[in-house]
Amino acid sequence: MMNTNRLSKTIVAALNNQMTKEAHASQIYLSYGAWADSNGFGGIANFLFRHAQEERNHMMKILEYILKRGGEVKVTAIPAPPPNPTSINNCFEKVFGHEVDNTTAVYKVVKMSLEEEDWATWNFMQWFVKEQTEEETLALNLLDKIKIAGGEKAEKTSLYSLDRDLATTPDDAKLAQDITADNP
Ligand code: FEO
Repeated sequence: MMNTNRLSKTIVAALNNQMTKEAHASQIYLSYGAWADSNGFGGIANFLFRHAQEERNHMMKILEYILKRGGEVKVTAIPAPPPNPTSINNCFEKVFGHEVDNTTAVYKVVKMSLEEEDWATWNFMQWFVKEQTEEETLALNLLDKIKIAGGEKAEKTSLYSLDRDLATTPDDAKLAQDITADNP
């Protein structure tokens, strides 16, 4: 029979692993969102829940890619999220840490595809490279906001404004490459 699988064993394993990582990220945002909501931060919870959905979308993109390239999708157990944050400051620091971790994982798949000269996967993964730059920016914006609000020592009134703010904060951050002098 003709081989219609266009992905190597190592690449398909790496992609399946990344797919599970995105699902894990979704669970993390879901759990942090539930934590935020039960602590009275409905706006922050809303932001985190929306982000959980984005991570689900990332998972789905990889699943589709594996299928379209004739590879085998392996849906596995998702590791449990880490313990709940201890404060909003800690929550945002953890969010940034998770995004940096995910960037590292994405880069590994990119490197692997380059080494194997799998240009289709390399090309596909560029979407994630861009997305991670954006997600790190988004997480850095959160850190900026909480810093201005007072970090660990943030007063209730600042946290209140921050919470209200995040309910309507856009899900996408602006990337440097999209900036012009007219529209900084
Ligand atoms: Fe799918 Fe936040 O990385």
